[in-house]
Amino acid sequence: MVNLKNRSLLSLDDLTAPEIRYLLRLAAELQGAKMAGVEQRRLEGKNIALIFEKDSTRTRTGFEVAAYDQGAHVTYLGPSGSQIGQKESMKDTARVLGRMYDAIEYRGFSQGSAEILRDHAGVPVYNGLTDEAHPTQTLADFMTMREFTHKHLSGMKVVFVGDTRNNVARSLALGAAKIGQHIVLCGPQELWPDAGYQERLQALTLESGGRFEVQAAPGLALPGADFIYTDVWLSMGEAKEKWAERIRLLSPYRVTRRMMALSGNAHTKFMHCLPAFHDTETAVGLEIAREFGVECMEVTDEVFEGASSIVFDQAENRMHTIKAILVATLGA
Ligand code: CP
Ligand code: NVA
Repeated sequence: MVNLKNRSLLSLDDLTAPEIRYLLRLAAELQGAKMAGVEQRRLEGKNIALIFEKDSTRTRTGFEVAAYDQGAHVTYLGPSGSQIGQKESMKDTARVLGRMYDAIEYRGFSQGSAEILRDHAGVPVYNGLTDEAHPTQTLADFMTMREFTHKHLSGMKVVFVGDTRNNVARSLALGAAKIGQHIVLCGPQELWPDAGYQERLQALTLESGGRFEVQAAPGLALPGADFIYTDVWLSMGEAKEKWAERIRLLSPYRVTRRMMALSGNAHTKFMHCLPAFHDTETAVGLEIAREFGVECMEVTDEVFEGASSIVFDQAENRMHTIKAILVATLGA
């Protein structure tokens, strides 16, 4: 019997495989209820603080809409406008917010700050992305994978291509190893996750029956992939000076039509947590195009806009899965 009442979610380490499956079932139920117009409000009277030290579209709106749908109220605390970090420590902030709110979402730089919040707030804390982890993203990714194949999660092969040590890749790989997927991190060796992380994931797959590989050659990584996943080449908080090196290291890992075809599977789907640099219609995309002469970065516009792309289903599922976390940890 799964019981997630009052639990924090800072990393996929905080969830067992049955708990992950429970949240995915709950998310699908909540999605169905919303579509049918019969959603029950299980969070009435709850107040949730949303701390964002970094920018966000999906995570912020996912938390806000999920909370409102369920009858809860939210307060957004952005990078400026509160005392956090300037005149007040995270430990003191935790003790203040814990007196007023029923739960706290935190998006920021350090995983340590999320842990301080959890340890001192006395209410559940959810990681909405740190430099190390993006666990709510992974739950949405798993929900989306289930929607687009008939396979069980544990029967799928997922290949993450690109900056394989970033937050999204690390959480995806951790979740995949826990639920028994075949997960491959494919990128240049310079950007592989550290040996300790790799060893932990290997150990998890021994328990779960999954398989974990790190691979530099796309031609070896991609055959048989059900899902090819990528993310930006430079994450929030990393120095702009790194762009040149990342473009040099990661250009061979751009997801192109040819790369998709390496799966040998016409049904392979393309995934991305978003936002994505697939064209020059953003300020950063345009700046990079002018400076480095690349029209797109981690994925071509053709793949992003193509029939295999399920990125907007992923984006929608952020809200359903975040709602499941809120209902499971706080709901009446
Ligand atoms: N995928 C994701 O976390 O998007 P946002 O940065 O828009 O929240
Ligand atoms: N790796 C990216 C994910 C954004 C949702 C970043 O941290 O910027």
